[in-house]
Amino acid sequence: MRTVLVTGGTSNLGSALCRAFLEHGDQVVCTYTHNKDKAEKLVRELGEKLTIASLDILCEESIFKLFESLESLDILINNSGVFTVSEQENLLPSDWDKVFDTNVKGMFLVCKKAIPLLRKSTNGVIINIASMNAFHPGFGGTAHYDASKGAVVSYTKSLAAELGPSIRVNGVAPGLLDAPYLHDDTNTVRLKFEGRAILNRLVKAGEVADCALFLSSATAITGEVVTVDCGYSVG
Ligand SMILES: NC(=O)c1ccc[n+]([C@@H]2O[C@H](COP(=O)([O-])OP(=O)(O)OC[C@H]3O[C@@H](n4cnc5c(N)ncnc54)[C@H](OP(=O)(O)O)[C@@H]3O)[C@@H](O)[C@H]2O)c1
Repeated sequence: MRTVLVTGGTSNLGSALCRAFLEHGDQVVCTYTHNKDKAEKLVRELGEKLTIASLDILCEESIFKLFESLESLDILINNSGVFTVSEQENLLPSDWDKVFDTNVKGMFLVCKKAIPLLRKSTNGVIINIASMNAFHPGFGGTAHYDASKGAVVSYTKSLAAELGPSIRVNGVAPGLLDAPYLHDDTNTVRLKFEGRAILNRLVKAGEVADCALFLSSATAITGEVVTVDCGYSVG
């Protein structure tokens, strides 16, 4: 049975990732930072093959503790991230740092600890969650986030070259994920996305998770970042 670690596993996409890999028959470790209640609810919902662990990817000690508790690891999914909106002229340098520290440096710190365990696996895989914004920015006020996700794409490709052939490294770049806060008929972000996406709809978290599941077993694919955006990029 494969052991899968999903960082930020209580989020919209994180819980879909946990569900998809559990349904595939894997054992999943879901990490939470602030949302312990949500993590415990997820265990009640998804069953005991899901275990939960606290993790702050900004804190090396927290990462160290998590990896001390893991006996083996086959698949690491770096899903944790933060998103903020601000025009660049108003963006505080500390906000820039928070986004880059979480989305990029935190990913590096987790990979650094995971690599020795993944090397011991017969199918060591890293999957990094980027964003369609890395390739198609322009929603306004997201230049810092878009740049951080661009860094995730470069990091993914470079890491694949460095860690192959023993570990495959790929990414998924989701478009706008369907979530209750977007359901208001007047939500301009949703309307803009749906208006341009070829499929005229938002992306379901489960569809992104299915792509990650596919990549976890796609033995000829490494250094790739797959966009899952209902055709927004080419719409
Ligand atoms: N939502 C979208 O439309 C969209 C589109 C493209 C890409 N993405 C990417 O997909 C991923 C998941 O997005 P989402 O919208 O489902 O989630 P989200 O609501 O933005 O939540 C992010 C997750 O990251 C975790 N996190 C934040 N800071 C952390 C830290 N210091 N250490 C460890 N974990 C931390 C959070 O944990 P706690 O809740 O426990 O604090 C939460 O589980 C992110 O990387 C995001 O950038 C999202």
